[in-house]
Amino acid sequence: MIISIANTKGGVGKTTLAVQIAIARALAGRDVWLIDGDRQGTAAAAIAARAEAQKLPGIACAQYADGAQLRAQVQQQAHKWEDIIIDVGGRDSTALRASLILADTLLVPFAPRSYDVWALDDMANLVDEARSVRDGLRSLAVMNQADPGANSSDNADAEAALADLPQFTYLPTPIRRRKAFSNAGGAGLSVVESLPRDQKAIAEINILVDSIFNVE
Ligand SMILES: Nc1ncnc2c1ncn2[C@@H]1O[C@H](COP(=O)(O)OP(=O)(O)O)[C@@H](O)[C@H]1O
Ligand SMILES: [Mg+2]
Repeated sequence: MIISIANTKGGVGKTTLAVQIAIARALAGRDVWLIDGDRQGTAAAAIAARAEAQKLPGIACAQYADGAQLRAQVQQQAHKWEDIIIDVGGRDSTALRASLILADTLLVPFAPRSYDVWALDDMANLVDEARSVRDGLRSLAVMNQADPGANSSDNADAEAALADLPQFTYLPTPIRRRKAFSNAGGAGLSVVESLPRDQKAIAEINILVDSIFNVE
């Protein structure tokens, strides 16, 4: 499956989730290729840290910030991989648009902050545009950095705003703001691998990975 993790907004957790999902799939025995589609190269840096620490399984990672190059490489190499995870930079970039043409599934992380929720209109337009030139783009939105409080009104407001955007299937299982995610991500580790183990973080990632990949 080819997954594009995209949002024109930066800082919403695209790279964090891309790294978590890529490692989760590799730990499940899949052949995974992680593509860093952002000039800033944060995902590639995290995976380089993982390789330097000799952590197994190793994750194959390439960086193509240029959309045409990204598309050509993925089209040429796709048959070699079971899962391709594309982490796209926060802007309406050529890499983002290329990823929307290639992907089976788009995952849009967003934070429960009003300006982040407004920015989802841009992504909704891009989904419409992609669907006008291709069939079968599945589009999922997941709240990330959700307020840890169980009854947060910010979380509820963001969820309600999503209901107005039919372009997205909202995954009703948010990823909450947890130190385990920021600590593990920078080191190129899954929350499953990093110590001390945060069982809630692990459960959240497992549910996310399940919602993406275990479809009929
Ligand atoms: N669920 C989370 N809990 C805690 N920190 C998070 C979480 N998701 C992302 N972060 C932190 O937020 C910052 C932005 O995340 P990042 O994945 O780089 O966003 P993006 O790739 O969308 O720009 C990083 O410092 C990251 O460690
Ligand atoms: Mg990023």
